[in-house]
Amino acid sequence: MKLARCSHDVLSVTIAALLLYINFAGLVSVQAADPDPLVDVSPKANGTFVLRDVYKNGATTNTEGGTRAALNISIFPALENEGITYVHFKVQPCGENEPHTHPRATELLTMVSGGPIQAGVVDTTGTPHIYILYPGDIIVFPRGLLHYELNVGSTEAFFISALNSQNPGVLTAATALFQLPTRAAAGALNQDFYTAQKLKAESLEYSTSLILLKKNAGCVPGKDITTDY
Ligand SMILES: *[C@@H]1O[C@H](CO)[C@@H](O)[C@H](O)[C@H]1NC(C)=O
Ligand SMILES: *[C@@H]1O[C@H](CO)[C@@H](O)[C@H](O)[C@H]1NC(C)=O
Repeated sequence: MKLARCSHDVLSVTIAALLLYINFAGLVSVQAADPDPLVDVSPKANGTFVLRDVYKNGATTNTEGGTRAALNISIFPALENEGITYVHFKVQPCGENEPHTHPRATELLTMVSGGPIQAGVVDTTGTPHIYILYPGDIIVFPRGLLHYELNVGSTEAFFISALNSQNPGVLTAATALFQLPTRAAAGALNQDFYTAQKLKAESLEYSTSLILLKKNAGCVPGKDITTDY
């Protein structure tokens, strides 16, 4: 009798702990991901599962650095609540997708053709992880970490990035820094006020388009395929 009551108590404590755990795990997963789908496909998709020609119909920019074709749920409504998006890149030699972060997504980049590209990430200890990527290579950029891609090869680099949010967000690092008051930027750059002001004046427009490195920025197409600089 005593033994039975004791094991009953143990059982209820275990069940309570389990329920608490399930509850907690549920809360965490709800906070960490996009909303779950409630229907097979968003009604806004109007019955179509296909987006034709992302280069023409996507959120596409064509600049000196190359073509960047992204999606969002107004362009491709079938992605609503699916927790995923794509960006296609065609980057010219010495073109760069400048250092940036995605506050709401992890990125998985597949190198398809051309290049190679130099790409990498800085982790939260400040340690860089830099690689040369060839067609068939895949790199992960963990959510929120600073990363970039630079075509160090002599042919157009084609790569595709998948991101696990319908709205990953892009924050470009250097141009974001210069959106801040000059003193804040001067502090971060360890420069005097006037040097920071000059750098700010010369900085690029805040944008997510691909850039082409200046002639004297250390990039010669197909030369110095290295992670050293
Ligand atoms: C939705 O699809 C129908 C049938 O294909 C079409 O007639 C209609 O124009 C579409 N509506 C929108 C908003 O695309
Ligand atoms: C999707 O991208 C287009 C083109 O860049 C833009 O006009 C539109 O506001 C974007 N929609 C959303 C929901 O971000």
